[in-house]
Amino acid sequence: MDAIKLLEQQHREVEELFEQFEKAGENDQLMMDLAARIADNLAAHATIEEKLFYPSVYVGPTAEKLQEAVEEHLSAKRVIADILGMSPADAQFKAKMKVLQELIEHHVEEEEKDLFKTVKKLMTKEELAVIGEQMEVMFSELIQSQPRLQVPAETDEAAPLQ
Ligand SMILES: [Fe+2]
Repeated sequence: MDAIKLLEQQHREVEELFEQFEKAGENDQLMMDLAARIADNLAAHATIEEKLFYPSVYVGPTAEKLQEAVEEHLSAKRVIADILGMSPADAQFKAKMKVLQELIEHHVEEEEKDLFKTVKKLMTKEELAVIGEQMEVMFSELIQSQPRLQVPAETDEAAPLQ
């Protein structure tokens, strides 16, 4: 699958999970399950971007946008790490989830309205298909291994771009 289509599809999936979280009301178990699924999805998504997509598209016109993107990932990972140490009984739990949702919404908007458009001009459909294929494989392996558990170890600094 085209790398950009894959990332956009994953963006829609995580938005749907955040909507379900908002509707979970006071159901603590459901909130915990959804928070874990959101964290797993975001962790695996960030990893395939950082390890495969971003380095593949790190060229002149995208460099600054990608530097910003990995800093946004870092901010999101720090909030995810906080959430993993909390439970719905904590007064700040929902607030942290809302902040995470807002960070992700902003990041997704920048990627889709800006970065992806630039990338489409720089790369061929074939190149995007090759990277997309690798990303799909890596994501499906990661998502089975509770990738959220790796997030607290990734909160010191932004992922390298090359
Ligand atoms: Fe991203």
